[in-house]
Amino acid sequence: MESRKPIGVFDSGVGGLSILRALRSELPQEDVVYFSDAGHGPYGERADAFVAERSRAIARQLLDEHRVKALVVACNTATAAAVHLLRAQHDHIPTVGVEPALKPAADLSRTGRIAVFATRSTLSSARFRSLHESLRGRADFVLQPCDGLAAAIETQDHEEVRSLCRLYARSAGEFGNGPDQIDTLVLGCTHYAFACRELEDEVGQGVRILETGAPVARQTRRLLEARRILNDAGRGQVELVTTGAEHALRQAAQLWL
Ligand code: SIN
Repeated sequence: MESRKPIGVFDSGVGGLSILRALRSELPQEDVVYFSDAGHGPYGERADAFVAERSRAIARQLLDEHRVKALVVACNTATAAAVHLLRAQHDHIPTVGVEPALKPAADLSRTGRIAVFATRSTLSSARFRSLHESLRGRADFVLQPCDGLAAAIETQDHEEVRSLCRLYARSAGEFGNGPDQIDTLVLGCTHYAFACRELEDEVGQGVRILETGAPVARQTRRLLEARRILNDAGRGQVELVTTGAEHALRQAAQLWL
């Protein structure tokens, strides 16, 4: 039965576990195959063609070997480079991508100044540029590429994570709730959800930090419901698959899920 099949979730590494966490809370009975492409990631500083090719290969593997009923691209960089290709190629299943929460940020910000932390590749993508353009005049977005941050989170190099969070928070500008200060921080990379504490230490607790896990999980539910393939009788099992080190993925999943 189609509804009993698992959902396939993939990312360049451990960042997508932040999306998996939200999926498990929204859809506790769905089985999930989580694919980490750590053997080829991080994607954020790679060429688009490379990321698109990896995304295509992973989607094929999830469909052929794991018979997934839906795909969740749990990586902003891969969504920007390939979600349209995956949707065109596999139009028989729902494919959900992740999008930096610029619109909710524009609705919530009081000072009208919003920082967006993401990979260089996401920020320069056509998809992101068109989202940004559509909100022109609604808020002042400070776009901050965070080279190396996803890699430091991937290897759990805590010193490096802390020092990059400091560097990028300072370079984005002044955070706070006063006039002209940045009062909202959008995390445009799924890895960064695992640096929330370090980011909060830098920007201050009064600054709202927006990640994308919950909206992606709700959108996945909507699409499964629309196709009548929601699993409400499953056991919520998670299978971990990786092109990198298995023990590292297991350890991260244990820590973060
Ligand atoms: C990366 O692989 O460099 C980051 C993943 C993302 O953009 O979410």
